[in-house]
Amino acid sequence: MKPLRIGLLGLGTVGQGVAKILLESEDLRYRAGFDLELAAAADLDIERPLDVEIDPAVLTTDAMAVCKSPDIDVVVEAIGGKTVARELLMTALSHGKSVVTANKALLAEYGYEIFSAALDAGLSVSYEASTGGGIPLLSSVRDGLVANSIGEFYAILNGTCNYVLTRMVADNMSFPDALKLAQQLGYAESDPTFDIEGVDTAHKLTLLAQLAFHTPVAFDKLRVEGISGISITDLRYAEQLGYVLKLLAIGKCVEIDGEEKLDLRVHPTLLSAEHPLAAVRDNFNAVYVVGDAVGPVMFYGQGAGRMPTASAIVADIVDIARGNAAQTFRTLALFRRAGGATPVLPMDDVQTRYYIRVTVLDKSGVLAAIAGHLGRHGISVAAVHQKEFGTPTVPLVILTHRASERAFRAAMKAIDDEEYVTEPSTCIRLESDT
Ligand code: HSE
Repeated sequence: MKPLRIGLLGLGTVGQGVAKILLESEDLRYRAGFDLELAAAADLDIERPLDVEIDPAVLTTDAMAVCKSPDIDVVVEAIGGKTVARELLMTALSHGKSVVTANKALLAEYGYEIFSAALDAGLSVSYEASTGGGIPLLSSVRDGLVANSIGEFYAILNGTCNYVLTRMVADNMSFPDALKLAQQLGYAESDPTFDIEGVDTAHKLTLLAQLAFHTPVAFDKLRVEGISGISITDLRYAEQLGYVLKLLAIGKCVEIDGEEKLDLRVHPTLLSAEHPLAAVRDNFNAVYVVGDAVGPVMFYGQGAGRMPTASAIVADIVDIARGNAAQTFRTLALFRRAGGATPVLPMDDVQTRYYIRVTVLDKSGVLAAIAGHLGRHGISVAAVHQKEFGTPTVPLVILTHRASERAFRAAMKAIDDEEYVTEPSTCIRLESDT
């Protein structure tokens, strides 16, 4: 049988991992049932030392030529970014090659163009590594859970943020120190603001939600907040109250006035310390999905780093070699659903619980006045926590029952306008079954 000839674009962290598996995993051909040949490996700098030994005859600086070459069957894009990578993928598709990529930013923002080009050409775009890194997540949601209507999922999809939050709580490390460590370990994006501001998670949420809810999802419709404003003070209060803070991607299919809407958002979220996602630490990712037939299912694994990402990319290559990818891709037709996309629920209409930390003057009537503001906006208090500090101002921590974002924002504006509130308040959303 002829080997599948792979053109690898980019020999950075992930590209070298892919090359390593293709060249060094001796029994891969038996597991795959195919010979997988690294026929070309392109990078702008092919002189620098690599962690994997690649035949110099295979190395090239001309990625575009790889995409056009008749001697290449499949192109693997491991360059990243949204300009050159986009052009290369479109060229590969126009030259009859299916493509594999981990490029979540590109697919979340320009998916329509790339997916359409592949569909029109009877080819495929495989992107298992884009979301959840090494976890076989997208294929499991797409195929393994196909019998289910998925009602909701909660996902930790950024290794950098999870690593930073873990180090802050477990080791009392400062935010910048923990982020520096995550960068050294190779988890972070080249611009780590994409990680900490939630953009990377939102890219992944876009791709996961499309498959879970069988609809096109517009990345720019998602509400995205990151973890840069999170302080150790709130992490400690959360701990005392039995909660853990995670940067979550949340996806829910809700019915509002008889119409289906998608509640899709990324933000720091408090979860009960008993929730399975609360135990997910360090750079690990996890996704908790609830299907109507299967009930809750959780996927767990390394969402970032060289070899986990390469593991998912090679799985996609094997799927193409076996002839499955194009067939699956065609049946999904994610961007061409009859009837159009399911609308995204406006953030004002989202219902959730809240943690509030208000710094107030310690005098009579203050607690009652704050409870009054919440009550006037229909927000019910679930718990109140105040320690005896003996200082003129004290932190007052309140957990609410479920309320709409609109009502909550209005109540918080009224509270923060009061003269007895001495600092801007901190608000963190809280997800629980109640
Ligand atoms: N920067 C990403 C993360 C890498 O930290 O999870 C994988 O997409």
